[in-house]
Amino acid sequence: MCGIVGYIGDKEAYPIIIKGLHRLEYRGYDSAGVALLNGSLNVYKCKGKVSDLETFAKEKDKKGNIGIGHTRWATHGEPNDVNAHPHCSQSGDIVLIHNGIIENYAPIKQELKKRSYVFKSETDTEVLVNLIEDIKKNESVSLFEAVRIALNQVVGAYAIVVFEKSNPDELIAAKKGSPLVIGVGEKEFFIGSDATPIVEYTKNVIYLEDEEIAVLKRSGEIKIKTIKNKAKTPYIEELEMKLDTLEKGGFPHFMLKEIYEQPRSIKDSMRGRLNATKGTVNLGGIADYEKAFVNAKRIIIIGCGTSWHAGLVAEYLFEDLARIPVEVEYASEFRYRNPVIHEDDVVIAISQSGETADTLAAIELAKSKGATIIGICNVVGSSIPRATHAGSYTHAGPEIGVASTKAFTAQITILTLMALQIAQAKGTLSRTKFHELINELNVIPEKVQAVLERNKEIEAIAKIYKDARNALYLGRGYTFPVALEGALKLKEISYIHAEGYPAAEMKHGPIALIDENMPVFVIATQGTSYEKVVSNIQEVKARKGKIIAVVTEGDTVVKGLADYTIEVPQADEHLVPLIAVIPLQLLSYHVAVMRGCNVDQPRNLAKSVTVE
Ligand code: F6R
Repeated sequence: MCGIVGYIGDKEAYPIIIKGLHRLEYRGYDSAGVALLNGSLNVYKCKGKVSDLETFAKEKDKKGNIGIGHTRWATHGEPNDVNAHPHCSQSGDIVLIHNGIIENYAPIKQELKKRSYVFKSETDTEVLVNLIEDIKKNESVSLFEAVRIALNQVVGAYAIVVFEKSNPDELIAAKKGSPLVIGVGEKEFFIGSDATPIVEYTKNVIYLEDEEIAVLKRSGEIKIKTIKNKAKTPYIEELEMKLDTLEKGGFPHFMLKEIYEQPRSIKDSMRGRLNATKGTVNLGGIADYEKAFVNAKRIIIIGCGTSWHAGLVAEYLFEDLARIPVEVEYASEFRYRNPVIHEDDVVIAISQSGETADTLAAIELAKSKGATIIGICNVVGSSIPRATHAGSYTHAGPEIGVASTKAFTAQITILTLMALQIAQAKGTLSRTKFHELINELNVIPEKVQAVLERNKEIEAIAKIYKDARNALYLGRGYTFPVALEGALKLKEISYIHAEGYPAAEMKHGPIALIDENMPVFVIATQGTSYEKVVSNIQEVKARKGKIIAVVTEGDTVVKGLADYTIEVPQADEHLVPLIAVIPLQLLSYHVAVMRGCNVDQPRNLAKSVTVE
C-alpha cells in the first residue's frame, strides 16, 4: 500500500507533491512526509494525514524543484513521526520513499549494525536506504549503481524513489511487485504509485515493469535498466484518465459520488460490448480465449473482499447460464493451499486496483500450472492486467472511496456479459433467454437510477439503526453475495459488527444472536427463492428481530412482515445483485456519516492492498 510521489523539473516540487499525495491518500493515511532539495535537504514528516503534514510544514522552507513524498499504511513499525517516510541514510546524503515490504530486512539490518549503522526507525525502508549508502561507499559507485546492487540483495516488494543531496539533477525510481508510473513532461518527470498525481501535467506515461530501475534527469533524459543491468527502451503510453473523475464534484464524499455514478459506470462497462438492438454481446478482450472457456472443465475465480463477492455472483451466473462448474476462492488461501490446477482450467482474477498482492500471487501460481488466466480489473495498466493472458477492463473510472461500490457493480456487469458470451458460444442458453437477458441488462442503469432516487427513505432507515452494535444480512441464491457485500460495507465504514449469511443457514447458528435489538437486513426480491426467504423472515420475526427488507416494487407479502422495506424495480433474478446492492451501499454510507466516521478513509484500511 502507501502512496509515493516524485518530481524533478523546473517547477516548485512541493505543491505538485502535496496534491499528488492527496490523490494517493486512498492507499494509506497514517503518516505522511516530503523531502525537498534546495541546496539543503529538507525532510518534513509526521503522523496523520496529508493535511496534517501541510500544517506541520506550513512555516517551513519548502523550496526546491526536486522532491519526493509519501503517504503511509504501516507495515513495519507503528504509525508515528519517526517511522514516516522519507527515510534518510545515516550520513543524511541519500533520501528514499518506499511502498512494499523488504522481507529480508532483519539479516541486512544486523549486518549493517555490525558496520556501525544506527537505526532511528523500526522500518524496513531505513534498512534499504542504509544498504544503498553502504554499497555506494564501499564500492565507490554511482547512486544508480548502488540502488541496482542493493535491489539484487533484497527479497520482497518495492516501489522506491530515491535521490541524493549532492545531485539535484537526478531522481531514481525502481519497482518490483508494487506499482510505479512515470509521467514524462517537457524536461520534467512526475512519479506516482498510479497515474492520478500525474494526469493534470502530462498524458505521456511509462509503466515501469518489475525489477526495472529508471534514472530521470533534469535534462529530460530517461534511462531504464533491469536490476540485472540490461538496458530497456522506455515505452511511452498515452493516459486515458480524465481529471474530473478525481474530484468530488459537489458530493460530500467520494463514496457517495461513486454510488451515484453507478448508472453511468455500468453503462460504461457495457459500452461497445453489449448491443441490445443487434442482440449481441462481445467482450473483445476475451475473443481469443472463447475456446478455452468453451472447453474448460472448470472455472476458478479468485479475488479478495468485494471482488471476491463479485466472483460469488459469477459462480451462479456461469453455472446457470454456461453450465461450467465454478469454484470461487479467496486469493490469499488459494495461493498457499497447493491447489489442484489443470491446463484446461480457466482462472478469472477480479480486482478493482489490479494490484492486490494475494490476487497477483494466485495468478502467478495458476499460470505456472498452465491454466488460462483472464483478468477483470478497473485500473488500466495496473499489475494484474499485465500478468494475465487476456481480460476486460471494467471502465468504471477511478474509485477513490476506500469502500468499493461502483467497482463491484462494474465487475458484475462484465461477469454477466462474459457468462452470456460463453453461454452463447457453448449453446447452453436459448436464444429467447439470451435476448431477454441482454435487453434487461441494457436497462439496468435506469433501474439503478430509480433506486438512487430512494436515497431519502434509506437515510431515514439509517437514522433508526445507526446505533446498532450488530447486524445480520441475509440473502439467498443470487442475493447471498449481496448480503455478504452489504455486511462488509457496513462493518468497514461504520465499524458496526455485521455478518452476511445465506438466509437458510441462519438457523444453523446465527439465529441464536437474534433478539429485539438485532437489525436483520434481508434481500427478499422476487425470484426462485422468494417464498423460502419469506419463511426465513418469519423465523426472525418469531424471535422479535427487526426486519429491514429490500423487496421488489409492488411486493405485499414481505411488506406485511417487515419493519421497514426498500423497494427496488423488478429485474430478472440473474441481474438482481446489480440493483439490490445499491440500497445497502447507501444505507452503510448514511450510517457511517451519522456515526461521525471517516467514510472515504476508514481506519486501518487502504484501497490498494499490495502486501499479503
Ligand atoms: C471493500 C474493499 C476491499 C477490496 C479488496 C480487493 O470495500 O474495497 O475488500 O475489494 O481489498 O481489492 P481489489 O479489488 O483492488 O483487488
